[in-house]
Amino acid sequence: MVENYASYSAPQQVYLTRMSLKITYFGHACFSVQLAGKTVLFDPFIRQNELAKHVDVSTVTADYILISHAHFDHLADALEIAQRCNAVIISNYEIAEWFAKQGVKVHHMNHGGKWKFKFGGVKYVAAVHTSSLPDGSYGGNPGGFVIESEEGNFYYSGDTALTMDMQLIPLTCAPLTTALLCIGDNFTMGIDDAVHAAQFVKCNKVIGVHYDTFGYIKIDHEAAVKKFAASGIELLLPAIGETIEIV
Ligand code: NI
Ligand code: MN
Repeated sequence: MVENYASYSAPQQVYLTRMSLKITYFGHACFSVQLAGKTVLFDPFIRQNELAKHVDVSTVTADYILISHAHFDHLADALEIAQRCNAVIISNYEIAEWFAKQGVKVHHMNHGGKWKFKFGGVKYVAAVHTSSLPDGSYGGNPGGFVIESEEGNFYYSGDTALTMDMQLIPLTCAPLTTALLCIGDNFTMGIDDAVHAAQFVKCNKVIGVHYDTFGYIKIDHEAAVKKFAASGIELLLPAIGETIEIV
């Protein structure tokens, strides 16, 4: 039997561009990611962070500022940066509205909703925590974010307890490149629960956030890395001001 190769075509030459997530850590739960030429900043809290004194807030830029919940340690520098950079604040309805009243650009979201921005998709997901704004006004319910982009996909938990809702993320979102999880305990998940969270979201590369800033949340870095490693998960703890690249 003679095979017919008439329809055979050589595999197309594919030039793969090595896409990666470039993440700069600014301390506590604040970090920025470069996506599609935009700077996406999360939970800015720098000026009041004793551990981030070497970071000059006036050099921190953003095209978009994503805020997980209303606590001061997640938004203290947001207004200043948004005004200087003409950035869009993305958060839940109540937080976005609070910033809109102060004259900055906002995009309102709420739990379970997804929107395609110029830099990628954003889904606002559940978190178990509390959320009131610095002036005492209602901040809606707290959340986290799943970002889907050309550079990679990631989950930022915000402040949260370990919750079964995290299991919905791998069911409903693209596979994650990395997960930024709170690990400091007392106010949020601690290390043991964050290991379960990484397993719930099916991600074996975790960047720890929300630790060391205050007395109650100081952690033993080496012990934390070992605990994650025992479950086959890599825990990264970048220095404040450091930029890491995740492929
Ligand atoms: Ni909080
Ligand atoms: Mn917090």
